[in-house]
Amino acid sequence: MATAIYPGSFDPMTNGHLSIIQRGLTMFDRLIVAVLNNPRKQAMFSVEERTRLIREACPDPRVEVDSFQGLLVHYTRRKGVHVILRGLRAVSDFEYEFQLANMNRKLDPEFDTVFMMTGQDSFYISSQLVREVASLGGDVSGLVPTNVLRALREKFPSKNGG
Ligand code: PNS
Repeated sequence: MATAIYPGSFDPMTNGHLSIIQRGLTMFDRLIVAVLNNPRKQAMFSVEERTRLIREACPDPRVEVDSFQGLLVHYTRRKGVHVILRGLRAVSDFEYEFQLANMNRKLDPEFDTVFMMTGQDSFYISSQLVREVASLGGDVSGLVPTNVLRALREKFPSKNGG
């Protein structure tokens, strides 16, 4: 059974992430979406909220949603999975992803990264921009799953006529 881990911050999940998961499932039998719990970074959504939002948006039984702390290579080893999936939006993503992939392989020679180009519809979407636009009252519908849209509106009710 081919399994890959799809790690990320997912703060919050976007339609770009969803597209990578859906397309990843055509390559792998199972995906573990692993949400980074980074106590040093202030997130908009808690790890519990982020994992719940992903679970709701991805009810497919082939998708497991989990969280991890610390080094990704320690998590992948614990899970017995050595392939991770990452989305690439633009050339600007490449340098960081290249460093990440090589550092991870230095830490664990068995480790490998599979990159998928994000679709035309999502190459400009990032969680960071979604957070900024939503917090300033902009409309992010179409950029995030509907449950995430609802959660953003609940976070910023005064910006959404609530
Ligand atoms: O969605 P993101 O923020 O681009 O995801 C980045 C992530 C979570 C994949 C990366 O920051 C990570 O793996 N962090 C865990 C700590 C770690 O292993 N650091 C060394 C990476 S070389």
